[in-house]
Amino acid sequence: MKKILYLDNAATTSLDKRVLDEVIKFSSYYGNPSSLHFKGEEAKIKIEKVRERISKFIGAEKDEIFFTSGATEANNTIIKGLVRKNKDKNHILISSIEHPSVIESAECLKKEGFVVEKIKVDQEGIVDLNDLKSKINEKTLLVSVMHVNNEIGTIQPIEKISHICKEKKVFFHSDMVQSFKKIDIDVRKIDLDFASFSGHKINAMKGIGFFYKRRGIEIDPLINGGDQERNLRSGTENFLGIVSLGAALKIKKNKEKIRKQRDFILNEILKMKGVILNGSLEKRIYNNINVSFYGIEGESIVLLLSKKGICVSTGSACSSNKLSHSHVLEAIGVKSLYLNGAIRITLDEMNEAQINYFLNSLNEIINKLRKISLFKLNEWGKK
Ligand SMILES: Cc1ncc(COP(=O)(O)O)c(C=O)c1O
Repeated sequence: MKKILYLDNAATTSLDKRVLDEVIKFSSYYGNPSSLHFKGEEAKIKIEKVRERISKFIGAEKDEIFFTSGATEANNTIIKGLVRKNKDKNHILISSIEHPSVIESAECLKKEGFVVEKIKVDQEGIVDLNDLKSKINEKTLLVSVMHVNNEIGTIQPIEKISHICKEKKVFFHSDMVQSFKKIDIDVRKIDLDFASFSGHKINAMKGIGFFYKRRGIEIDPLINGGDQERNLRSGTENFLGIVSLGAALKIKKNKEKIRKQRDFILNEILKMKGVILNGSLEKRIYNNINVSFYGIEGESIVLLLSKKGICVSTGSACSSNKLSHSHVLEAIGVKSLYLNGAIRITLDEMNEAQINYFLNSLNEIINKLRKISLFKLNEWGKK
C-alpha cells in the first residue's frame, strides 16, 4: 500500500476515530431539533450539551455560541452582520494577512459604501500596533485580526490588540480557526466581541463551525429562514457535525512532542542551501513550518512530494489552486525570487521513520529541482 504522510493539518485534519465513533453512536438521532416530538427533543438536547461544552472551552456563555457551516460563514456573518446593523459608522480595519473569508467579506462591503483599510504587519507577520492605533478613527466600527495566521503560523498579541480596540471603543473580531485547541482561549480574558472557529481543523467533520458573539451585541443574520440559532443562522442544524465538534474538543494532543519534532525538521531544512524561514521563529504556532526555496516553484515541490505520498501545501488551502503570490508572504516582504518557492508543512504527531522519510524525500526533490532551475547555485543571494 502507498505510504501516506499527511503534513497539511492547517488545511484540514483527518476525522479522529473517537470522533467518528461518537458520530456513529448518535446517528440514530435523526429527528429535526426544531420538532416538538421526542425525536426532535433528543437531538435538541444533544446540541445544547455541545453548545455548553464549547462555551466552557472558550470561557463564554452558552447563549454566546452560534453554529454555522464553518469559519467562512462565521466570518461573513459577523463582518457583514455587524456593519449592516450599524450604519452610522462606515470604517473597517483588517490586518493585511487575514484569511480570504475575512478579506473578501470586508471588500464586498465597499459596494455598500464601507471603507476598508488594512493594518500593516512587520517582517514576522505581527500586527503593527502603532499603525492600528493611528488608523482607528471616529467612523471605525470593527477591527478584525486573526489569532494565528494560517500560512506562516504567526501568533498575534491578541490581548494588546483587544485592549487598543476597547480603549478606542471599537468592536474586535478575531478569526481563531488556527489557534483553536492549540492555544488556550478565554474570550473574557482577551475581552473579545466576536470570534470564528471551524471543526475540520480540529479533527471534527467538515461543514461545521461556530462563532462567538458577546451577549448584547446585535448583528443582522446573513441567512434568513426558520429562525434557528436564535434567528442568526437559519437552516436545520448540522446535527452530526455538531456532535463531531463536541467529541473533538475532548481529544488531547501531545503539543510538546509536536513542537520538538517541528523544531527538528525545521533545523534540518534550514541546513539546506537557498532556503529561508517565512514568519517568526518564536511567535509561531507549534506545528507550523513555512519555508521558501530560492528560485524553485513551491507547486513543483508539493506535486513531487505528493507522488511520494507526502501532503504539504504552498500556503492556504483556499489559494492553492491559484498560481498567484501569497498575499501573506507579500505583506511580510518576502523577496520576489523566494515568493513562489514557499511550502507550508503543518504537523501532527509523527514517528522517527516518518520524519526521516520526509526529510530524505524533500532533500531529493530539492536537489532534482535545483538541477533544472534557471537560478544556479552561484546566483543564490544570501539569506
Ligand atoms: C484562518 C482561517 N480562517 C477561516 C478558514 C475557513 O474555514 P472553513 O473551511 O471552516 O470555512 C480557514 C480555513 O482554511 C482558515 O485557515
